[in-house]
Amino acid sequence: MTELAYAKLNLSLDILGRRPDGYHDLRMVMQTVDLADEVTVEPGGGQVTVQTNLSFLPCDRRNLAAAAALRFQEAVRPDLDGAAISICKHIPVCAGLAGGSSDAAAVLRALNELTGAGLTPDRLAALGETVGSDVPYCVLGGTALAEGRGERLTPLTPLPPCDVVLCKPGWSVSTPVLFAQADGKKLRRRPDTAGLLAALEAGDLTGAARRMYNVFEDVLTPREWSGVQAIKNTLIQHGALGASMSGTGPTVFGLFASRAAAWAAYEELKQTGQETFLARTV
Ligand code: C5P
Repeated sequence: MTELAYAKLNLSLDILGRRPDGYHDLRMVMQTVDLADEVTVEPGGGQVTVQTNLSFLPCDRRNLAAAAALRFQEAVRPDLDGAAISICKHIPVCAGLAGGSSDAAAVLRALNELTGAGLTPDRLAALGETVGSDVPYCVLGGTALAEGRGERLTPLTPLPPCDVVLCKPGWSVSTPVLFAQADGKKLRRRPDTAGLLAALEAGDLTGAARRMYNVFEDVLTPREWSGVQAIKNTLIQHGALGASMSGTGPTVFGLFASRAAAWAAYEELKQTGQETFLARTV
């Protein structure tokens, strides 16, 4: 069975505080786009194996897709007898787009279907929580508010369909390092999450796009920040309704009401040599 694993965007990301378990309480509005990995799962074979088209990715339990299959086997179907997982990656790795978490979620959905286990989406999402903080959201997808570690999910009125241009700067950031740096910093700006939620409720794409903000933009080094700003400026100059960084970055995205404008922004950013994608919300 082949499942699409959609990339995740943070329309907003706020850090509310540090928790005793070392994680952080977050408040994030999430959205899936149709930039996707293809995840093929075949149950059986005696062990859980993973192969991908990117040779540098781990194929053992460090790969969240393998971790998800092992977790499913342990908790739901001890008789599973392994699974062969094959992943064709299109979502950039370590990019703030939850690619690994989305692959894990696709494995859970596929195994749930293939084994006839019949777990509800909510139970499947709860199972994903032990694999990674973004996995529960990736099981459900769409437009949602994620709170707590990221596992407390409230489905929202979907963002009105729009084109999205994504651009990933050439450098990568470490999620735990960025969280640690955020701890030592007074955040200067916070997202207007309430305003964003109201705009979504009203079906107001422009209002939602204008309220997008991610506190991790404040945690970047000046050099990283200027790279992010340069992409944002290009997106806005081409008519993006709003632009923001996703997750702990470094991917920056813009929302467009016009396909022609999105295409022009995509063309210009692609010429800079950075990984650039044109997608639609799903
Ligand atoms: O849950 P996951 O393994 O995806 O998290 C990766 C890292 O991100 C954690 O080890 C932690 O440093 C950080 N994190 C956090 N608070 C969250 C989610 C992730 O501090 N809510």
